[in-house]
Amino acid sequence: MNDNHPEISIKSFQSPVNENIELDTVIAVVSVSDKDSGDNGVVDLRIPDNMPFKLRESSDNYYELVVSEPLDREKVPEYDVTFTVTDRGSPPLSDNETMTLELLDINDNVPQFPQSFYTIRVMKNNAPGALLSSLTAFDPDLHENQYLVYFILEKEIANTSMSMLFSINPENGNLYALKTFDYEIEKEFLFHIEARDSGSPPLSSNVTVHIVIVDQNDNVPVIVSPWRAHGSVVEEKIPRSTDKGSLVAKVIGLGSVSFLLLITILVTIVLKCQKPKPSNAAPPCRNSVISERNSTIADSTLVSNDAYWYSLFLAETRKGKMVVRQPVPKGSRYIVSSIPRGTGLTDTSDSAASTLQRRR
Ligand SMILES: *[C@@H]1O[C@H](CO)[C@@H](O)[C@H](O)[C@H]1NC(C)=O
Ligand SMILES: *[C@@H]1O[C@H](CO)[C@@H](O)[C@H](O)[C@H]1NC(C)=O
Ligand SMILES: *[C@@H]1O[C@H](CO)[C@@H](O)[C@H](O)[C@H]1NC(C)=O
Repeated sequence: MNDNHPEISIKSFQSPVNENIELDTVIAVVSVSDKDSGDNGVVDLRIPDNMPFKLRESSDNYYELVVSEPLDREKVPEYDVTFTVTDRGSPPLSDNETMTLELLDINDNVPQFPQSFYTIRVMKNNAPGALLSSLTAFDPDLHENQYLVYFILEKEIANTSMSMLFSINPENGNLYALKTFDYEIEKEFLFHIEARDSGSPPLSSNVTVHIVIVDQNDNVPVIVSPWRAHGSVVEEKIPRSTDKGSLVAKVIGLGSVSFLLLITILVTIVLKCQKPKPSNAAPPCRNSVISERNSTIADSTLVSNDAYWYSLFLAETRKGKMVVRQPVPKGSRYIVSSIPRGTGLTDTSDSAASTLQRRR
């Protein structure tokens, strides 16, 4: 008579195990028994088909549960393994036992940003400390393998560190501008932001951030000629006998909106004027230009007025120098430095990432 149930006895069960456990590792040892004799006492042990494990008979009525496929905690964090034993009686009797296998996290996922390239537009004259964007990455691992730290990858160009211009909250990836950007000086910045998890060893990934300073029409047009240091009142003396239609004064007004166009025109004019005239004075003149170019001392002048800046620009450009304007904090003043061409800012092309910032 098949009057005895087969029985399952779990001899050992290893849980939790690392998700990167090697194939063929023994998770459990199970023994089965049935007190009946003949077919009524012959038993079969099985587990569900769709599991990354298999049963291997190790000795008579002893089975090992081994890993047969790679495990991934991020896909299935734990398995309920049901062992079912059935005898060959008629009708068959069965027994089952369920064990839960838990998987431990391994730092096997790199932090992921939703995009690999971020273009962030910033209105010029932005408030310092303004939030520009939030660059959040995701890491599907657990605990410290998931905790991300954000930082700006430094690439120092001309002694300007990106960390002096931008700041990122290491915990949430909020990106801030640390200073007010002036479209007339800086038009764009390019740098990388890295997200690194706290696993051991840590994994990281980075994104490229392109900051574009967007222009606003905030420059009042100024009269640059005839030049007056203070105010816009200009006196011109004209003889009583002046004919109708004769020239009194020229007034070419500027607005920085068309600044780029203007600079292009001015540079073209200056270059044309610089062409050596076929006169005797040409050789010494050329020498003086060369000696100016060889100078390595940059002159700096404090400028509080756009018009004065233009006249400086013209004068320095005629000497073959490059002129750089930097804003002075708290005010509309600038420090204007002239740099001999061929040195300084334009020579940083080997580090392409951050050179865009001072390009004109
Ligand atoms: C396990 O055994 C119980 C009775 O002990 C039964 O109700 C259940 O259906 C069995 N489960 C499986 C999966 O065979
Ligand atoms: C950068 O700063 C160092 C010292 O702080 C100075 O020696 C070097 O000339 C500077 N480089 C540029 C390009 O300004
Ligand atoms: C940024 O990540 C890429 C891989 O996505 C890597 O090749 C590159 O070295 C990283 N850059 C830095 C500066 O870490």
